[in-house]
Amino acid sequence: MATDNFTSFTVTPPPKLRGEIVAPGDKSISHRAAMLNAIAQGSATVTNFSPGDDCSSTVELLRALGVEIHRTPSGQKDTGDTLVVRGNGMNGLRQPRADLDAGNSGTTMRLMSGILAGRPFRATMTGDASLVTRPMGRIVQPLKLMGADISGDHGDTRAPLHFNGGALTGIDFTMPVASAQLKSAVLLAGIRARGETTVREPSKCRDHTERMLRAMGANIQSQDGIITVIESEVTASDVDVPGDISSAAFWMVVGICHPDARLLIRNVGINPTRSGVITALTAMGGNIELIDERVVAGEPVADVLASSSELKGTVLSGELIPLLIDEIPVLAVAAAMANGDTVIRDAAELRVKETDRIAATVDWLRGAGVKSEARDDGMLVRGEGRICGGTFSGRGDHRIAMSLGIAGLVAQDAITISDASCSSISYPTFWNEVEKLGGVDAG
Ligand code: S3P
Repeated sequence: MATDNFTSFTVTPPPKLRGEIVAPGDKSISHRAAMLNAIAQGSATVTNFSPGDDCSSTVELLRALGVEIHRTPSGQKDTGDTLVVRGNGMNGLRQPRADLDAGNSGTTMRLMSGILAGRPFRATMTGDASLVTRPMGRIVQPLKLMGADISGDHGDTRAPLHFNGGALTGIDFTMPVASAQLKSAVLLAGIRARGETTVREPSKCRDHTERMLRAMGANIQSQDGIITVIESEVTASDVDVPGDISSAAFWMVVGICHPDARLLIRNVGINPTRSGVITALTAMGGNIELIDERVVAGEPVADVLASSSELKGTVLSGELIPLLIDEIPVLAVAAAMANGDTVIRDAAELRVKETDRIAATVDWLRGAGVKSEARDDGMLVRGEGRICGGTFSGRGDHRIAMSLGIAGLVAQDAITISDASCSSISYPTFWNEVEKLGGVDAG
Protein backbone atom coordinates (compact mmCIF):
# COMPACT_ATOMS: atom_id res chain seq x y z
CA MET A 1 0.00 0.00 0.00
CA ALA A 2 1.44 3.41 -0.99
CA THR A 3 0.09 5.52 1.83
CA ASP A 4 1.33 8.80 0.32
CA ASN A 5 -1.07 8.50 -2.59
CA PHE A 6 -4.25 8.05 -0.59
CA THR A 7 -5.99 10.39 1.75
CA SER A 8 -8.95 8.16 2.41
CA PHE A 9 -9.02 4.67 3.93
CA THR A 10 -11.75 2.13 4.44
CA VAL A 11 -11.20 -0.10 7.45
CA THR A 12 -13.03 -3.34 8.17
CA PRO A 13 -12.53 -5.63 11.16
CA PRO A 14 -10.40 -8.73 10.54
CA PRO A 15 -11.75 -11.87 12.28
CA LYS A 16 -8.58 -12.25 14.31
CA LEU A 17 -5.87 -9.79 15.40
CA ARG A 18 -2.39 -11.06 16.14
CA GLY A 19 0.91 -9.33 15.87
CA GLU A 20 3.75 -7.24 17.22
CA ILE A 21 3.98 -3.50 16.74
CA VAL A 22 6.88 -1.24 17.65
CA ALA A 23 5.65 2.15 18.86
CA PRO A 24 7.39 5.06 17.04
CA GLY A 25 9.66 7.42 19.01
CA ASP A 26 7.89 9.61 21.55
CA LYS A 27 6.86 12.96 20.11
CA SER A 28 7.14 14.95 23.35
CA ILE A 29 10.57 13.58 24.22
CA SER A 30 11.82 14.03 20.62
CA HIS A 31 10.90 17.75 20.61
CA ARG A 32 12.72 18.26 23.89
CA ALA A 33 15.79 16.23 22.88
CA ALA A 34 16.25 18.42 19.78
CA MET A 35 15.52 21.74 21.51
CA LEU A 36 17.57 21.20 24.66
CA ASN A 37 20.58 19.90 22.75
CA ALA A 38 20.25 22.91 20.42
CA ILE A 39 20.87 25.26 23.36
CA ALA A 40 23.45 23.01 25.00
CA GLN A 41 27.19 23.14 24.76
CA GLY A 42 28.50 20.30 22.56
CA SER A 43 27.24 17.67 20.20
CA ALA A 44 24.68 14.96 20.95
CA THR A 45 23.10 12.04 19.13
CA VAL A 46 19.35 11.47 19.41
CA THR A 47 18.22 8.00 18.33
CA ASN A 48 14.69 6.77 17.57
CA PHE A 49 13.61 10.37 16.89
CA SER A 50 9.87 10.69 16.21
CA PRO A 51 9.08 10.29 12.48
CA GLY A 52 6.09 12.65 12.79
CA ASP A 53 5.73 15.98 10.97
CA ASP A 54 5.47 17.87 14.29
CA CYS A 55 9.01 16.96 15.27
CA SER A 56 10.24 17.82 11.77
CA SER A 57 8.76 21.29 12.34
CA THR A 58 10.96 21.60 15.44
CA VAL A 59 14.07 20.46 13.52
CA GLU A 60 13.46 22.95 10.68
CA LEU A 61 12.76 25.77 13.10
CA LEU A 62 15.98 25.12 15.03
CA ARG A 63 17.93 25.01 11.76
CA ALA A 64 16.44 28.41 10.86
CA LEU A 65 17.92 29.67 14.15
CA GLY A 66 21.38 28.54 13.03
CA VAL A 67 21.58 25.19 14.80
CA GLU A 68 23.41 22.47 12.87
CA ILE A 69 21.32 19.30 12.79
CA HIS A 70 22.10 16.21 10.71
CA ARG A 71 19.25 13.76 10.28
CA THR A 72 19.77 10.23 8.98
CA PRO A 73 17.37 7.32 8.66
CA SER A 74 18.40 4.56 11.05
CA GLY A 75 18.39 2.00 8.24
CA GLN A 76 16.75 -0.46 10.62
CA LYS A 77 13.16 -1.55 10.46
CA ASP A 78 11.05 -0.11 13.28
CA THR A 79 13.72 2.31 14.48
CA GLY A 80 13.31 6.04 14.01
CA ASP A 81 15.77 8.52 12.52
CA THR A 82 19.00 9.56 14.15
CA LEU A 83 19.76 13.24 14.74
CA VAL A 84 23.13 14.72 15.48
CA VAL A 85 22.56 18.12 17.07
CA ARG A 86 25.48 20.54 17.48
CA GLY A 87 24.57 23.18 20.05
CA ASN A 88 26.46 26.42 20.52
CA GLY A 89 25.41 26.94 24.12
CA MET A 90 22.64 28.93 25.74
CA ASN A 91 23.37 32.08 23.67
CA GLY A 92 24.27 30.41 20.39
CA LEU A 93 21.01 30.98 18.47
CA ARG A 94 21.03 33.57 15.68
CA GLN A 95 18.34 35.81 14.21
CA PRO A 96 16.24 33.91 11.64
CA ARG A 97 16.07 35.27 8.08
CA ALA A 98 12.33 34.62 7.74
CA ASP A 99 9.30 33.89 9.90
CA LEU A 100 9.61 30.66 11.88
CA ASP A 101 6.99 28.03 11.04
CA ALA A 102 5.79 25.67 13.80
CA GLY A 103 3.40 23.93 11.37
CA ASN A 104 0.62 22.11 13.28
CA SER A 105 2.71 21.71 16.42
CA GLY A 106 1.57 23.35 19.66
CA THR A 107 4.57 21.86 21.46
CA THR A 108 6.98 23.49 19.00
CA MET A 109 5.33 26.89 19.34
CA ARG A 110 4.94 26.90 23.11
CA LEU A 111 8.32 25.43 24.08
CA MET A 112 10.19 27.49 21.48
CA SER A 113 8.50 30.61 22.89
CA GLY A 114 10.30 29.91 26.18
CA ILE A 115 13.56 29.54 24.26
CA LEU A 116 13.04 32.66 22.10
CA ALA A 117 11.85 34.91 24.96
CA GLY A 118 14.34 37.64 25.82
CA ARG A 119 16.82 36.84 23.01
CA PRO A 120 18.85 39.76 21.68
CA PHE A 121 17.19 39.51 18.24
CA ARG A 122 13.77 39.76 16.66
CA ALA A 123 11.81 36.72 15.51
CA THR A 124 8.26 35.95 14.43
CA MET A 125 6.77 32.48 14.88
CA THR A 126 3.63 31.31 13.14
CA GLY A 127 1.90 28.04 12.24
CA ASP A 128 -0.82 26.39 10.17
CA ALA A 129 -4.54 27.25 10.09
CA SER A 130 -5.21 25.17 13.24
CA LEU A 131 -2.24 26.41 15.26
CA VAL A 132 -3.02 30.10 14.73
CA THR A 133 -6.41 29.58 16.40
CA ARG A 134 -5.00 27.90 19.53
CA PRO A 135 -4.54 29.77 22.84
CA MET A 136 -1.10 31.36 23.23
CA GLY A 137 -2.01 33.98 25.87
CA ARG A 138 -1.26 31.35 28.52
CA ILE A 139 2.44 31.40 27.57
CA VAL A 140 2.74 35.05 26.48
CA GLN A 141 1.47 36.30 29.84
CA PRO A 142 4.08 34.63 32.15
CA LEU A 143 6.91 35.25 29.66
CA LYS A 144 5.98 38.95 29.65
CA LEU A 145 5.92 38.91 33.46
CA MET A 146 9.50 37.62 33.26
CA GLY A 147 10.42 40.69 31.17
CA ALA A 148 10.21 39.32 27.61
CA ASP A 149 8.90 41.67 24.93
CA ILE A 150 6.37 39.50 23.07
CA SER A 151 3.26 40.41 21.14
CA GLY A 152 0.68 38.40 19.25
CA ASP A 153 -2.66 38.61 17.46
CA HIS A 154 -6.01 39.05 19.23
CA GLY A 155 -4.58 40.95 22.19
CA ASP A 156 -1.44 38.80 22.41
CA THR A 157 -3.43 35.55 22.67
CA ARG A 158 -2.83 34.02 19.21
CA ALA A 159 0.03 33.38 16.79
CA PRO A 160 1.81 34.85 14.91
CA LEU A 161 3.93 35.70 17.94
CA HIS A 162 6.58 38.41 17.70
CA PHE A 163 9.67 38.27 19.92
CA ASN A 164 11.52 41.55 20.46
CA GLY A 165 14.10 40.86 23.16
CA GLY A 166 13.79 41.96 26.79
CA ALA A 167 15.70 41.02 29.95
CA LEU A 168 14.43 37.95 31.82
CA THR A 169 13.97 37.77 35.59
CA GLY A 170 12.62 34.74 37.44
CA ILE A 171 8.99 34.62 38.60
CA ASP A 172 6.88 32.53 40.95
CA PHE A 173 4.11 31.30 38.67
CA THR A 174 1.00 29.27 39.47
CA MET A 175 -0.26 27.64 36.28
CA PRO A 176 -3.97 28.20 35.56
CA VAL A 177 -4.09 24.89 33.60
CA ALA A 178 -2.16 21.63 34.02
CA SER A 179 -0.26 22.09 30.75
CA ALA A 180 3.21 20.61 30.25
CA GLN A 181 3.73 22.97 27.31
CA LEU A 182 3.12 25.99 29.52
CA LYS A 183 5.27 24.60 32.34
CA SER A 184 8.09 23.90 29.88
CA ALA A 185 7.91 27.37 28.26
CA VAL A 186 8.40 29.05 31.65
CA LEU A 187 11.17 26.64 32.73
CA LEU A 188 13.05 27.10 29.43
CA ALA A 189 12.94 30.88 29.92
CA GLY A 190 13.79 30.34 33.61
CA ILE A 191 17.17 28.71 32.87
CA ARG A 192 18.24 31.99 31.21
CA ALA A 193 16.58 34.35 33.73
CA ARG A 194 18.17 36.31 36.57
CA GLY A 195 17.18 34.82 39.95
CA GLU A 196 14.91 31.91 40.65
CA THR A 197 11.91 30.73 38.60
CA THR A 198 9.22 28.65 40.31
CA VAL A 199 6.33 26.93 38.54
CA ARG A 200 3.41 25.48 40.51
CA GLU A 201 1.30 22.79 38.79
CA PRO A 202 -2.42 22.53 39.63
CA SER A 203 -2.02 18.80 39.03
CA LYS A 204 0.76 16.61 37.65
CA CYS A 205 1.41 16.79 33.92
CA ARG A 206 4.16 15.27 31.78
CA ASP A 207 7.61 15.91 33.24
CA HIS A 208 9.96 15.18 30.33
CA THR A 209 11.38 18.72 30.36
CA GLU A 210 12.33 18.49 34.04
CA ARG A 211 13.88 15.04 33.58
CA MET A 212 15.92 16.12 30.58
CA LEU A 213 17.05 19.44 32.08
CA ARG A 214 18.26 17.55 35.15
CA ALA A 215 20.06 14.94 33.02
CA MET A 216 21.78 17.77 31.12
CA GLY A 217 23.10 19.38 34.29
CA ALA A 218 20.63 22.26 34.82
CA ASN A 219 20.02 23.44 38.35
CA ILE A 220 16.43 22.24 38.78
CA GLN A 221 14.45 21.03 41.73
CA SER A 222 11.01 19.45 41.69
CA GLN A 223 8.79 18.29 44.53
CA ASP A 224 5.05 17.98 45.06
CA GLY A 225 4.20 19.86 41.88
CA ILE A 226 6.54 22.79 42.61
CA ILE A 227 9.44 23.10 40.18
CA THR A 228 12.27 25.59 40.66
CA VAL A 229 15.12 26.44 38.26
CA ILE A 230 17.94 28.96 38.35
CA GLU A 231 20.15 30.23 35.54
CA SER A 232 22.03 27.20 34.20
CA GLU A 233 24.12 26.02 31.27
CA VAL A 234 23.08 22.66 29.86
CA THR A 235 25.48 20.07 28.49
CA ALA A 236 24.75 18.10 25.33
CA SER A 237 23.41 14.66 26.11
CA ASP A 238 22.61 11.65 23.91
CA VAL A 239 18.97 10.56 24.06
CA ASP A 240 17.56 7.19 22.98
CA VAL A 241 13.89 8.17 22.61
CA PRO A 242 11.43 5.60 24.03
CA GLY A 243 8.35 4.59 22.04
CA ASP A 244 5.35 6.90 22.24
CA ILE A 245 2.60 5.71 24.61
CA SER A 246 0.18 8.04 22.81
CA SER A 247 0.79 6.05 19.59
CA ALA A 248 0.84 2.71 21.42
CA ALA A 249 -2.57 3.55 22.96
CA PHE A 250 -4.29 2.90 19.60
CA TRP A 251 -3.09 -0.72 19.62
CA MET A 252 -3.89 -1.16 23.32
CA VAL A 253 -7.49 -0.12 22.65
CA VAL A 254 -7.93 -2.35 19.60
CA GLY A 255 -6.27 -5.23 21.44
CA ILE A 256 -8.77 -5.14 24.30
CA CYS A 257 -11.87 -4.25 22.20
CA HIS A 258 -11.55 -6.84 19.43
CA PRO A 259 -13.16 -10.21 20.30
CA ASP A 260 -10.15 -12.28 19.18
CA ALA A 261 -6.98 -10.25 19.69
CA ARG A 262 -3.56 -10.55 21.20
CA LEU A 263 -1.20 -7.70 20.33
CA LEU A 264 2.29 -7.08 21.65
CA ILE A 265 3.39 -3.46 21.51
CA ARG A 266 7.13 -3.10 21.97
CA ASN A 267 9.19 -0.30 23.51
CA VAL A 268 6.42 1.78 25.10
CA GLY A 269 7.35 4.71 27.37
CA ILE A 270 5.38 4.30 30.61
CA ASN A 271 6.45 7.47 32.46
CA PRO A 272 3.81 7.82 35.23
CA THR A 273 2.95 11.33 33.99
CA ARG A 274 1.93 9.78 30.64
CA SER A 275 0.51 6.36 31.48
CA GLY A 276 -3.04 7.35 32.53
CA VAL A 277 -4.34 5.43 29.52
CA ILE A 278 -3.14 2.16 31.10
CA THR A 279 -4.84 3.11 34.38
CA ALA A 280 -8.08 3.91 32.52
CA LEU A 281 -8.14 0.80 30.32
CA THR A 282 -7.35 -1.43 33.30
CA ALA A 283 -10.20 0.19 35.29
CA MET A 284 -12.49 -0.68 32.36
CA GLY A 285 -11.49 -4.33 32.68
CA GLY A 286 -8.92 -4.32 29.85
CA ASN A 287 -6.35 -7.13 29.77
CA ILE A 288 -3.19 -5.04 29.63
CA GLU A 289 0.04 -6.64 30.76
CA LEU A 290 3.39 -4.87 31.16
CA ILE A 291 6.38 -7.03 30.24
CA ASP A 292 10.12 -6.44 30.71
CA GLU A 293 9.90 -3.08 32.50
CA ARG A 294 13.20 -1.20 32.10
CA VAL A 295 14.67 2.33 32.04
CA VAL A 296 15.80 3.96 28.75
CA ALA A 297 17.33 7.46 28.75
CA GLY A 298 15.98 8.10 32.25
CA GLU A 299 12.44 7.15 31.20
CA PRO A 300 10.58 3.94 32.25
CA VAL A 301 9.78 1.65 29.29
CA ALA A 302 7.97 -1.70 28.89
CA ASP A 303 6.46 -3.97 26.26
CA VAL A 304 2.68 -4.04 26.49
CA LEU A 305 0.48 -7.04 25.77
CA ALA A 306 -3.17 -6.20 25.05
CA SER A 307 -5.74 -8.94 24.59
CA SER A 308 -9.51 -9.35 24.19
CA SER A 309 -11.49 -8.27 27.25
CA GLU A 310 -14.97 -7.78 28.64
CA LEU A 311 -15.10 -4.01 29.11
CA LYS A 312 -17.26 -1.91 31.40
CA GLY A 313 -17.84 1.85 31.54
CA THR A 314 -15.88 4.07 33.91
CA VAL A 315 -15.44 7.66 35.11
CA LEU A 316 -12.36 9.55 33.94
CA SER A 317 -11.83 12.84 35.79
CA GLY A 318 -9.65 15.03 38.00
CA GLU A 319 -5.92 14.42 38.27
CA LEU A 320 -6.05 11.47 35.85
CA ILE A 321 -7.00 13.72 32.92
CA PRO A 322 -3.61 15.41 32.23
CA LEU A 323 -2.00 11.94 32.35
CA LEU A 324 -4.10 10.74 29.37
CA ILE A 325 -5.22 13.95 27.68
CA ASP A 326 -4.10 12.95 24.15
CA GLU A 327 -5.57 9.47 24.46
CA ILE A 328 -9.20 10.53 25.12
CA PRO A 329 -10.24 10.32 21.44
CA VAL A 330 -9.24 6.64 21.32
CA LEU A 331 -10.48 5.94 24.86
CA ALA A 332 -13.90 6.93 23.47
CA VAL A 333 -13.67 3.90 21.15
CA ALA A 334 -13.12 1.65 24.21
CA ALA A 335 -16.02 3.41 25.96
CA ALA A 336 -18.34 2.67 23.01
CA MET A 337 -17.25 -0.99 22.94
CA ALA A 338 -17.75 -1.36 26.71
CA ASN A 339 -20.99 -2.09 28.49
CA GLY A 340 -22.32 0.86 30.49
CA ASP A 341 -21.70 4.57 30.68
CA THR A 342 -18.30 6.21 30.54
CA VAL A 343 -18.21 9.78 31.85
CA ILE A 344 -15.27 12.05 31.05
CA ARG A 345 -14.98 15.25 33.12
CA ASP A 346 -12.40 18.01 33.78
CA ALA A 347 -11.14 17.74 30.20
CA ALA A 348 -12.08 21.17 28.80
CA GLU A 349 -8.52 21.38 27.39
CA LEU A 350 -9.70 18.97 24.67
CA ARG A 351 -11.64 21.85 23.16
CA VAL A 352 -8.40 23.71 22.31
CA LYS A 353 -6.30 20.89 20.86
CA GLU A 354 -5.59 20.50 17.11
CA THR A 355 -9.37 20.55 16.78
CA ASP A 356 -12.22 20.61 19.32
CA ARG A 357 -11.80 16.95 20.25
CA ILE A 358 -14.98 16.79 22.36
CA ALA A 359 -17.17 17.94 19.45
CA ALA A 360 -15.23 15.87 16.88
CA THR A 361 -15.44 12.66 18.94
CA VAL A 362 -19.10 12.95 19.92
CA ASP A 363 -20.07 13.80 16.33
CA TRP A 364 -18.53 10.68 14.83
CA LEU A 365 -19.70 8.45 17.70
CA ARG A 366 -23.28 9.54 17.11
CA GLY A 367 -22.88 9.08 13.36
CA ALA A 368 -21.73 5.52 14.11
CA GLY A 369 -24.81 4.79 16.22
CA VAL A 370 -23.18 5.25 19.64
CA LYS A 371 -25.33 7.25 22.07
CA SER A 372 -23.19 10.04 23.44
CA GLU A 373 -23.38 13.61 24.66
CA ALA A 374 -20.87 16.44 24.58
CA ARG A 375 -20.38 18.31 27.85
CA ASP A 376 -18.47 21.57 28.36
CA ASP A 377 -15.55 19.72 29.94
CA GLY A 378 -15.93 16.21 28.55
CA MET A 379 -18.52 13.72 27.34
CA LEU A 380 -20.83 10.88 28.21
CA VAL A 381 -20.57 7.71 26.11
CA ARG A 382 -23.31 5.06 26.49
CA GLY A 383 -21.40 1.87 25.80
CA GLU A 384 -23.47 -0.92 24.22
CA GLY A 385 -20.57 -3.01 22.95
CA ARG A 386 -20.94 -1.91 19.34
CA ILE A 387 -19.97 0.73 16.78
CA CYS A 388 -21.76 0.89 13.40
CA GLY A 389 -20.05 1.80 10.12
CA GLY A 390 -20.04 5.00 8.08
CA THR A 391 -17.84 7.65 6.50
CA PHE A 392 -16.24 10.23 8.78
CA SER A 393 -13.69 13.01 8.47
CA GLY A 394 -10.52 13.10 10.53
CA ARG A 395 -11.02 16.90 10.57
CA GLY A 396 -7.31 17.39 9.92
CA ASP A 397 -6.58 16.11 13.45
CA HIS A 398 -4.20 13.14 13.57
CA ARG A 399 -5.62 11.66 16.77
CA ILE A 400 -9.23 11.86 15.54
CA ALA A 401 -8.32 10.23 12.20
CA MET A 402 -6.40 7.39 13.88
CA SER A 403 -9.16 6.82 16.48
CA LEU A 404 -11.55 6.35 13.55
CA GLY A 405 -9.13 3.80 12.08
CA ILE A 406 -9.19 1.88 15.38
CA ALA A 407 -13.00 2.09 15.44
CA GLY A 408 -12.99 0.53 11.94
CA LEU A 409 -11.03 -2.48 13.23
CA VAL A 410 -13.80 -3.31 15.72
CA ALA A 411 -16.96 -1.88 14.09
CA GLN A 412 -19.91 -3.88 12.74
CA ASP A 413 -19.47 -2.43 9.22
CA ALA A 414 -16.71 -0.68 7.33
CA ILE A 415 -15.58 2.76 8.48
CA THR A 416 -14.18 5.10 5.83
CA ILE A 417 -11.91 7.86 7.05
CA SER A 418 -11.56 10.84 4.75
CA ASP A 419 -8.45 13.05 5.08
CA ALA A 420 -6.69 10.24 6.90
CA SER A 421 -3.18 11.32 5.94
CA CYS A 422 -3.00 13.80 8.86
CA SER A 423 -1.81 10.78 10.91
CA SER A 424 1.65 11.81 9.63
CA ILE A 425 1.68 14.54 12.30
CA SER A 426 2.63 11.95 14.91
CA TYR A 427 2.51 8.49 13.30
CA PRO A 428 3.25 8.32 9.54
CA THR A 429 3.17 4.49 9.39
CA PHE A 430 -0.13 4.12 11.27
CA TRP A 431 -2.16 3.01 8.22
CA ASN A 432 0.55 0.53 7.21
CA GLU A 433 0.15 -1.09 10.62
CA VAL A 434 -3.65 -1.20 10.17
CA GLU A 435 -3.06 -2.85 6.81
CA LYS A 436 -0.64 -5.39 8.32
CA LEU A 437 -3.33 -6.29 10.84
CA GLY A 438 -5.59 -7.01 7.88
CA GLY A 439 -7.98 -4.09 8.19
CA VAL A 440 -7.44 -1.50 5.47
CA ASP A 441 -8.32 -0.79 1.86
CA ALA A 442 -7.02 2.42 0.34
CA GLY A 443 -9.77 4.32 -1.44
C1 S3P B 1 2.55 18.02 25.14
C2 S3P B 1 1.69 18.38 26.12
C3 S3P B 1 0.23 18.26 26.02
C4 S3P B 1 -0.19 17.34 24.89
C5 S3P B 1 0.59 17.62 23.63
C6 S3P B 1 2.09 17.43 23.87
C7 S3P B 1 4.00 18.21 25.36
O1 S3P B 1 -0.31 19.55 25.81
O2 S3P B 1 -1.57 17.48 24.63
O3 S3P B 1 0.18 16.74 22.59
O4 S3P B 1 4.82 17.63 24.62
O5 S3P B 1 4.35 18.93 26.30
P1 S3P B 1 -0.60 20.51 27.07
O6 S3P B 1 0.60 20.50 27.88
O7 S3P B 1 -0.90 21.87 26.54
O8 S3P B 1 -1.80 19.89 27.76
